[in-house]
Amino acid sequence: MSRDPRHDILFEPVPIGPKTMRNRFYQSPHCTSFGAEVPSAHAYLRGIKAEGGWAVVNTEFCSVHPSSDSRPLISARLWDAEDARNLKPMADMAHEYDSLAGVELWHGGGIAGNLETRIAAGGASQMAEWGVNGYQLNKDDIRRIQGYYVEAAKRARDAGFDIVNVHGAEGGAITAHFLMAKSNNRTDEYGGSLENRARFWTETLEQVRAAVGEDCAVTARLCIDTYNDSPQGIRAGEEAYGFIALADHLVDFWDLQAGGWSAAEWAGDDAEASRFGAEYADRPYLEAVRGATQKPIAAVGRFTNPDTMAEAVRSGTIDVIAAARPSIADPFLPQKIEEGRYEDIRECIGCNICASRFPQSAPIVCTQNATVGEEFRRGWHPEKFAAAANAEKTVLVLGAGPAGMECARVLGERGMSAVHLVDEQETIGGSLRRVSAYPKLGEWARVINYRQIQLDKLANVEVIPKTRLDAEGVLGYGAIGAQTAKLLRVFGMRRKLKRKKNNRRQTNPHPHLLSCSIRNAAFAAHMEALLAGHAAAIFKMVVVGA
Ligand SMILES: Cc1cc2nc3c(=O)[nH]c(=O)nc-3n(C[C@H](O)[C@H](O)[C@H](O)COP(=O)(O)O)c2cc1C
Ligand code: SF4
Repeated sequence: MSRDPRHDILFEPVPIGPKTMRNRFYQSPHCTSFGAEVPSAHAYLRGIKAEGGWAVVNTEFCSVHPSSDSRPLISARLWDAEDARNLKPMADMAHEYDSLAGVELWHGGGIAGNLETRIAAGGASQMAEWGVNGYQLNKDDIRRIQGYYVEAAKRARDAGFDIVNVHGAEGGAITAHFLMAKSNNRTDEYGGSLENRARFWTETLEQVRAAVGEDCAVTARLCIDTYNDSPQGIRAGEEAYGFIALADHLVDFWDLQAGGWSAAEWAGDDAEASRFGAEYADRPYLEAVRGATQKPIAAVGRFTNPDTMAEAVRSGTIDVIAAARPSIADPFLPQKIEEGRYEDIRECIGCNICASRFPQSAPIVCTQNATVGEEFRRGWHPEKFAAAANAEKTVLVLGAGPAGMECARVLGERGMSAVHLVDEQETIGGSLRRVSAYPKLGEWARVINYRQIQLDKLANVEVIPKTRLDAEGVLGYGAIGAQTAKLLRVFGMRRKLKRKKNNRRQTNPHPHLLSCSIRNAAFAAHMEALLAGHAAAIFKMVVVGA
């Protein structure tokens, strides 16, 4: 199938100052909980996205100085030359695929916990309600912090980064704290009018731009609406419009999002779950700021539908499709659209399991993409599968729920001679069939639909519905040892919950279990050890994945 010509617009190059994006796909900054701690995992995760066609891959938020440490949360860092060396592999991997590497420079100001460095936090104003009682910066402090941005930008440039992004989204950075009246009650030239409140950020942009010259494109990640229709926050048609007009000459493009005036709200407003917000829900806010800028606009909107993306660009509202979750669920989204392989797109379901890991400082996971975070450690690739060393063997997968579907798919991709996916129901999907029928959870059916399509393509996988196998049945099916069956009965999400009133048993639809089950299934299917050495007459392995 070839690409729909309506989507050609998505593959036009976009000049951004001294650099050019090879297409309109931009992986917006998103954390992984690898950051500075596990640089190779961070680099490989971004590298896979570059391979999958994202013209820009960004770091997660990247601390510019020890006076802004995010502990216990894990960020990237550019505190010194060693940090720059750790980030360099990411830029190198992006360049291998002709993509640009962006770094999101972050200083948390008064909300930086500094649990590691134990430096007193200082911010725009002293406000206990922001969670950390940081002191109010004087003008020398302001110059000092602006200098940290400059030094970090130079380190990023020297490490090969193409884009420096002065982060101010989600109420999570000092730039935004100065900008919002709610977090800025200063009476000097950095407080009061919009122009004064914008000053910290515009001066920082000026200094960063002067430091990196033509070596890097410069952008700012701006929250264009804090969803509270208050002059205390940011309103698209007022503060955002005004700030963009003031700083337009300082950036090469804009990186825009909306939602939440405190960092705590980011996963509810900006990265809104599909239950509460549709794709491209921020369109009205973006339309309200378009007139303020002459520069390209990148904006997020949980974009997975190429029609919506193409229309967003064609209408002139935005120029670049920015995406965090869609790039996590399918790192190869751009390439699949480019090649017209629409049916292979693994769409984000908006469950926000990825976001839920960040506050736990735990490595990223995704319900749709079991390989995310394992690109380096285990060498897993979302689209390429190593042939199994024992591919002559046959596998019985019991239960076509999320885990069973994924396990059968990966085993099929790994070339097992036959995979039988057996389920007592008429259709695959297990408990997800019911869950995705709940109000506002329809998008969760994408977990089933994607796998149904992929299983249909695999000639070595057979789905056998309406068949219930108990232990005897399994033994009869392929003469494996009972001990083997027991050993492998560890996969799947069939967690039983007892309902208090009627003691009825129910399959738990919690998304965390869903993502665990899919991930466990991937382990089952990827690991040679599990696939090896279970001799039997016909079907040599059983994996239970209800
Ligand atoms: C797991 C996760 C981590 C994120 N971390 C960051 C971050 O470090 N910096 C940032 O500016 N935005 C971060 N975001 C917000 C995204 O960049 C984006 O604005 C938001 O997810 C909405 O875009 P989407 O609908 O394409 O996911 C994160 C989002 C997710 C899902
Ligand atoms: S975990 Fe859920 S919300 Fe996050 S990228 Fe994956 S499917 Fe999307």
